[in-house]
Amino acid sequence: MESLANEPRPLDILILAAGLGTRMRSNLAKVLHRLDDRPLINHVCRTAIALAPRKIYVVIGNQGEEVKNAVLKEVDESHAEFVWQEKQLGTGDAVNAARRFLENEDSTLLILSGDVPMIRPETLAALVQLHHNHRGKGAACTILTVKLNDPTGYGRIVRDEGGLFQKIVEQRDADEQQAEIHEINAGIYCFDTKKLFSALAKVQNHNAQGEYYLTDVPELLRAAGEDIAIYQHRDSQEIEGVNNRVQLAELERQICRRTISRLMLDYGVTFIDPKNVYVNEQAEIGRDTVIYPNVRIEGETVIGDGTTIRSGTRITNSRVGLAVEILDNCVIVDSQIGNQCTVGPFARLRGNSIMEEGAKVGNFVELKKTNLGRGSKANHLTYLGDATIGENTNIGAGTITCNYDGKDKHPTTIGNNVKIGSDTMLVAPVTVGDGAATGAGSVVTKDVEAEALVVGVPARTVKKGE
Ligand code: UD1
Ligand code: CA
Repeated sequence: MESLANEPRPLDILILAAGLGTRMRSNLAKVLHRLDDRPLINHVCRTAIALAPRKIYVVIGNQGEEVKNAVLKEVDESHAEFVWQEKQLGTGDAVNAARRFLENEDSTLLILSGDVPMIRPETLAALVQLHHNHRGKGAACTILTVKLNDPTGYGRIVRDEGGLFQKIVEQRDADEQQAEIHEINAGIYCFDTKKLFSALAKVQNHNAQGEYYLTDVPELLRAAGEDIAIYQHRDSQEIEGVNNRVQLAELERQICRRTISRLMLDYGVTFIDPKNVYVNEQAEIGRDTVIYPNVRIEGETVIGDGTTIRSGTRITNSRVGLAVEILDNCVIVDSQIGNQCTVGPFARLRGNSIMEEGAKVGNFVELKKTNLGRGSKANHLTYLGDATIGENTNIGAGTITCNYDGKDKHPTTIGNNVKIGSDTMLVAPVTVGDGAATGAGSVVTKDVEAEALVVGVPARTVKKGE
């Protein structure tokens, strides 16, 4: 039966996410604060999923419903179990909230903190492996640690003369000598589930914060003669916790720097001033695309090869094609820009607008839920909303689709090869046929036939189409 002892046990993961995060000085629960455009808890959940655990337990409390919804964006409902911690009495109490689900499980429990978002799956896998293989029979508890130049704020790892684990001392409970220790507790551990819950029952709150510390459990297990292993990791960046907004901003900078380096080295993107650009980790950008300073590329954005993006532009959840030129100070949200289009300066695209190949949108032009056909142009001072515009049509300066009657939105349809004169008001719902034209300053209240010319207020037909 000896061999069975080494059989890896099922892995469950427990994530602590009930705290408010007092040091954030925020009304928003800490794990809901955003890093790289996703709540902190989503980062931890995505990493947890990568380990393919049997189940992910999430301890929730402050703004628990919101945290739950965030978790369910990453974790399939069948793999998630939510555990409410009514009062936040400490990390030990948080784990204890899951007692009824876990205390009799013959499993390995990996505990993660909702506020340690940079940890990588590879590191966790190595931690679990050491936990299972420690001294050939596995440990009761394995602690992830790292040495920090500045350990302020973290729990310190106290080792005995033989270098073995002795205990964890929190910053606020540490004496002068212990405060000098640089090896810190990452707040990430593997436990033999049953042993964890039996020791947890003995944890008391006689400490500086009057809390039930999870960090007392390893010491209690050690006193009971159990083996405690330490996995000392090298990369301190992965282990950094977010307790305040300075730390959050620091991690944001790290992720962005990593994303931009990857885009430069592996994908051949030029950043003229990489320090002053934000690119979301999920964005894809093509070869020889040039990005000027003060650009923000957010969400799931895809940008093709050889495109130029000038300063002050924001692109969110959009697709941009090849050889596109986006000039300064544009805002492009939830939209698509085809190959060889030109946009801006000072243009705004939103609401699933689409520019087809070679289309042009110039200064002070807004497109909302509008499709601008191939080679068509709206070069100056124009609002196009709920509009469908054909190919090679020219929209004159100052044109407005009057799409809103105060109650409902109405569509405007413009055909191919149309010339809309400057300052035309298109009172929707209205259709302008292929090859038609409108005179400068006309107010179009009725459909215009193909090849016709309309002028005036309200516009009347002065030349019929053939
Ligand atoms: C904790 C560790 C510390 C470690 C550090 C690493 C304890 C006592 N200390 O300290 O040794 O160096 O993490 O980042 O565990 N939480 C709850 N319910 C509670 C209290 C906390 O769910 O009652 C959650 C928080 O939401 C957070 C996590 O547990 O996600 C850690 O809590 P936090 O208060 O940030 O602990 P630290 O002081 O950072
Ligand atoms: Ca913390």
